[in-house]
Amino acid sequence: MNKNRLMKRMTALFCAIALTGTGMHTVIRADEEKPQEETVTETAAEEAGEENELLYADDVNGFVTRLYEVCLGRKPDKTGYMDWINWLKSGKVSAAGAVQGFMLSNEMKAKNYSISDWVEICYKAIMDRKSDAPGKKTWVDCLTNGVSQNFVLKGFVGSSEFAGLCAKYGVVKGDITLTERRDQNYGLTSFVGRLYNKGLGRTPDANGINNWCDLLILKKRTPKQVATSGFFHSQEFLKKNLNNTEFVKVMYRTFLGREYDVPGLNDWVSSLNSGTSRDSVMAGFADSKEFQKIISDSGWEAVSNKELAPLFNNVNSILLVANKQHKLPNNYEPSDMRQPNVSARMSTPMRDEAATALEQMFAAARAEGVYLVAGSGFRSQSYQATLYNNYVARSGKAAADTYSARPGYSEHQTGLAMDISDRSGATYLSQSFENTSEGKWLKNNAWKYGFIMRYPKTKQSVTGYMYEPWHFRYVGKDYAAAIWSCGPETTFEEYFNVAGGESYN
Ligand code: DAL
Ligand code: ZN
Repeated sequence: MNKNRLMKRMTALFCAIALTGTGMHTVIRADEEKPQEETVTETAAEEAGEENELLYADDVNGFVTRLYEVCLGRKPDKTGYMDWINWLKSGKVSAAGAVQGFMLSNEMKAKNYSISDWVEICYKAIMDRKSDAPGKKTWVDCLTNGVSQNFVLKGFVGSSEFAGLCAKYGVVKGDITLTERRDQNYGLTSFVGRLYNKGLGRTPDANGINNWCDLLILKKRTPKQVATSGFFHSQEFLKKNLNNTEFVKVMYRTFLGREYDVPGLNDWVSSLNSGTSRDSVMAGFADSKEFQKIISDSGWEAVSNKELAPLFNNVNSILLVANKQHKLPNNYEPSDMRQPNVSARMSTPMRDEAATALEQMFAAARAEGVYLVAGSGFRSQSYQATLYNNYVARSGKAAADTYSARPGYSEHQTGLAMDISDRSGATYLSQSFENTSEGKWLKNNAWKYGFIMRYPKTKQSVTGYMYEPWHFRYVGKDYAAAIWSCGPETTFEEYFNVAGGESYN
């Protein structure tokens, strides 16, 4: 340390003592035992964290001391202090990492600061200034809506003020990495946060909001499902036992994003009082233009499209797509297939997970007096070639293309699809299967077991194939329920926003 800097520090120290009347003990003790020059250095390091900021040395030690003071409001303890200094000097942690360590420490948590007070400390610790009202409101809103404290810290450590502070103390700034689902897309997190705040009347908890964000980002739930059955059928909401008036007020806030108007409130309440169910009132609110806008503003579509895109071509994914725009890898065969334990027209395997779901579906149908029979499951690329060529020979290429996939493009090759029949087989692979009790049962119940009718009646232009009321494809229970919730004719292509249609790529 050069003489000039030392002098400056000594002056600072004595000013501090003079101003505050504290530190006297330290200096007297040091005077007795050691030459003064060393004393001051040691005092600054060891007893760092005295009441006045003038004591902070312009180096790593000073940076750490300052964090103890500003974040925890105390002097450093020796072990902690030395650890942070070592970690910073060795590059094990960055300045941003140290800020994170202090602001998220158990010691800090134990202080139980309000959101507002915690944000104020962020300003002081990271930007070295008091908050400004609009800035502070932004960060408080973020936390109220359910993002993590890391999300806020990341914003603060990205400021020019923090860069300046790091330069002043000669520490490497670094950054903060966000890993939680709730920090992935602020619009979406706010959407869920609103449901907590307006619907349940409380701020979100980390596990809860991460879970909802995960389900939404993976498209395992639609925003409407989350709002309606997710929140308003929850035990937490039901236990509130709201009366009809209070219930309708919550509907306004949640689905319309505003307070009630008196005539509207009266209408809904009298409808409830005369026997309309809460679910149908809620459906009225959930289908409003206002709620559509809240959903589209959330950014849900974009974030989940991006997240899911890699899965549609991934053979390990249950969302693997085969259609005229998505060819499978040449001669692909799933490695985890088995014959489902159900009555079947022939030996015809499926992927294990799909086979288990098929067994559950067949058993459930049977319990309701509906006898399903498995027809055609996995088909190899070469078998599909034989089938397709036969159809072309029979009815010509153009016609064959409306009902049979070319080799390499058939969903049967994924091991996730099954053509299903009734016991007689009289309507097997015929559109009149829709009139059988088996066909009707499947149409209305397959989603409960994770299957979707893959080629609905009105969607040939989307799927590329004519109506096949017998062809069911496994997508898992979450996805099947989410797709069903969008309407019985909703296609895979529409729900997941993937390319399809009648022409080959
Ligand atoms: N019948 C369906 C479209 C297939 O051939 O895969
Ligand atoms: Zn089929």
